[in-house]
Amino acid sequence: MGALVHRGKVRDLYEAGEDRVLLVASDRMSAFDVVMAEEVPDKGRLLTAMTVFWFEHLADVVPSHLVTTDVPDLPSELLGRSMLCRRAEMLPVECIVRSHLAGSAWQEYRERGTVHGMAVPVGLLEADALPEPLFTPSTKASPGAHDENLSFDQAVALVGGEVAERARHLSLAVYRRGAAHALDRGFVVADTKLELGWVDGEMVVADEVLTPDSSRFWPADGWTPGSTPASPTPRAAPSNAPSPRSASGACPTSGWARPSAARSTPQMRRRPGPGWRSCALASSPTP
Ligand SMILES: Nc1ncnc2c1ncn2[C@@H]1O[C@H](COP(=O)(O)OP(=O)(O)O)[C@@H](O)[C@H]1O
Ligand SMILES: [Mg+2]
Repeated sequence: MGALVHRGKVRDLYEAGEDRVLLVASDRMSAFDVVMAEEVPDKGRLLTAMTVFWFEHLADVVPSHLVTTDVPDLPSELLGRSMLCRRAEMLPVECIVRSHLAGSAWQEYRERGTVHGMAVPVGLLEADALPEPLFTPSTKASPGAHDENLSFDQAVALVGGEVAERARHLSLAVYRRGAAHALDRGFVVADTKLELGWVDGEMVVADEVLTPDSSRFWPADGWTPGSTPASPTPRAAPSNAPSPRSASGACPTSGWARPSAARSTPQMRRRPGPGWRSCALASSPTP
């Protein structure tokens, strides 16, 4: 196996030849851009399986970086959580699409009546559907920093007009296709975050796509605007999960405590509850 070239909050990237990388999804959990002390067993396998499913399902919408998951001579602990990928030059922008008012979008709407600075109807409730999905990009923060919202014009300034337009077009197309498929199976995709990059002059989707780490999935039935539903994953809520909004500084959507340091606080050193996904992305503008 090649040398470790990058350790992300969740994924490790290994050298795999000149133009390839091996992307290994760990069981690490990250919330508010902080890696928590406790892992979720097999989470990386779930993220990998979902991403591979979606890459195939979305193949006619956007190509992906995936070469194969069938990697020879892989240590057993890496099986099911590894993707051999084409090395991409990643866009310095997180491509976020929101169709419902959750997380930081709900917070902004409550405070200013806008979503990502854009006008939306008045009188919406938390978790309400927006009239149409919105592209709400953000910066890709360096380690230890938080992602910042980017207006479309700021994204244009960063990557150029044509690239920003293409990223918006592909992100909305991925969202629409993924959300339609999820709805068929009883789930709303409230928002999602994509990472796009360049491979051989072609824009591809990389990293992960439409996973519980990158997206809010809500059960389509039994969900009513007025509060943000807990994500249905992982299925079993642990017995020691804090009750929503029990902790000071709790995550506005799930009730999970907001860690303040580079590692989790003792309060966070519990097994994550059903709101793990909502909280993980409610912290920063992503999504
Ligand atoms: N095909 C690829 N080529 C190069 N870099 C990639 C590729 N796919 C993903 N990456 C990068 O690898 C890192 C994966 O680590 P991850 O833990 O998911 O990161 P983050 O904490 O930034 O979300 C990210 O920085 C992502 O941009
Ligand atoms: Mg990532």
